[in-house]
Amino acid sequence: TLKMINTVVIGYLLGGINFSIIMGKLTAGIDIRQFGSGNAGTTNTLRVLGKKAAVVTLVGDMLKGTLAAYIGFLFCGEWGAMVGGGMALFGHCFPVYYNFKGGKGVATCGGMLLIVDWRIFLIMLGILALTLVVTRYMSLGSMLACVAFPFLVVLFKGYNAYYLAWSIFMSLLVIYQHRANIVRLIRGEESKFSLKKKKEQ
Ligand code: G3P
Repeated sequence: TLKMINTVVIGYLLGGINFSIIMGKLTAGIDIRQFGSGNAGTTNTLRVLGKKAAVVTLVGDMLKGTLAAYIGFLFCGEWGAMVGGGMALFGHCFPVYYNFKGGKGVATCGGMLLIVDWRIFLIMLGILALTLVVTRYMSLGSMLACVAFPFLVVLFKGYNAYYLAWSIFMSLLVIYQHRANIVRLIRGEESKFSLKKKKEQ
């Protein structure tokens, strides 16, 4: 119906707004996608631009997911929240404004979960944080949290074929966006998380 179409379109367009690209332009006059890992996300913003820009990116990219999910919720209830937030995630990964090259969707997924289910949010954040502390790999933490996502949806929302299929799609999308990270992890070349800006560029 019309409300669902609005949820999809608004979610996608909101998701495309990319705070790391904006902060790169604004604070350093660069395209963040040409530096560090090349990713337009929080981790690479921290790496290339530093803490302040990274915080803005994290909050901005999360809140657009939250907003898209909230709008979806107002239009179509809980399923609308999942679809709207998921479309923001999709828009973040493939933004219409930036040649369809965006980020990996981790922050935006987190923002969506604040509306969909805060318990799932906290558990996935816990998995990410624990992996990060133990291994120092943000990418691995992000992927492991995503692997848990469909299971957590069934656990907390009960079995719903639409919810399950959509959560698997979102999870696979985020993992697919990490394909270069997976290669680096296997080769032992993945960069470890650090709060300090890297000087190599
Ligand atoms: O949030 C994305 C993160 O999981 C990996 O980012 O820049 O290290 O590829 P990056």
